[in-house]
Amino acid sequence: MNDTVPGAGGGEELGELDAAGYAAAGAAETVRGNRHWWDREASAYLSEHGAFLGDTEADGDFVWGPEGLREADAALLGNVGGRDVLEVGCGAAQCSRWLAAHGARVVGMDLSGAMLAAAAVRTSQSGAALVQADARVLPFADASFDLACSAYGAVPFVADPEQIMSEVARVLRPGGVWAFSVTHPIRWAFPDDPGPAGLRATRSYFDRTPYVEQDAADRVLYAEHHRTLGDRVADLVGAGFVVERLVEPEWPDDAEHVWGGWSRLRGRLLPGTLILVARRSG
Ligand SMILES: C[S@@+](CC[C@H](N)C(=O)[O-])C[C@H]1O[C@@H](n2cnc3c(N)ncnc32)[C@H](O)[C@@H]1O
Repeated sequence: MNDTVPGAGGGEELGELDAAGYAAAGAAETVRGNRHWWDREASAYLSEHGAFLGDTEADGDFVWGPEGLREADAALLGNVGGRDVLEVGCGAAQCSRWLAAHGARVVGMDLSGAMLAAAAVRTSQSGAALVQADARVLPFADASFDLACSAYGAVPFVADPEQIMSEVARVLRPGGVWAFSVTHPIRWAFPDDPGPAGLRATRSYFDRTPYVEQDAADRVLYAEHHRTLGDRVADLVGAGFVVERLVEPEWPDDAEHVWGGWSRLRGRLLPGTLILVARRSG
């Protein structure tokens, strides 16, 4: 199913970048580029989005995406009290802090040292542990966690998300729940523009060529990889999960904010976030 995704098998060639910024990018160079990007941009990203994400709250917050859906309202993870929870791609760990404040034993993991440094400043009192790693190779024993979650962490930023699904399945106990949010796959067909230009499909939904930014020496500076909805479900099923819920948060009536390509204009017409909730079989 993913044979049109260049580099999904770990190849390291970087194809020629086309005018729109889509090119082949292998698995390792994607992770290398994105680690540097998040290290470089951590501070600016948190200045821009931190308040929305609850970064300034003592107990953090758990926001699933730009629509502002909160775990406190959605309850996709169920009761987290007393559960061992892994947050994948935790960034500054707002969700981990929120989970810890609700009684979970939490480990937040992320690729970026700068994001984790920001997280460390904020999580010192929360009890959440922080680990630096690539989500495709989780440094935890089998069956260590009851729940795993991710709000836009890691999954869209790797060429081989099936690796993350397998690793999460491995570290979850049988019956454990894995819930994660990503950009809704339909957005891939539209320009990442919050205005009217973002309402006209200009690209095939089925084209898995990643969005890539690169430097003058053709090194990957940033890459985002696309999966169709069917691919996402297949990645989960292939890793031994049973999909229990597929959530498409709606843009709230009173929300006027803009986050990159997310806006009221587009959010009223098209889904912007996909949340998948799956259970590890066995
Ligand atoms: C959009 S942030 C998500 C964190 C937080 N929920 C937020 O909304 O800010 C994406 C995070 O994924 C992390 N990330 C990207 N690739 C990763 C990988 N291969 N393994 C672990 N984390 C990764 C980045 O470092 C970044 O902190």
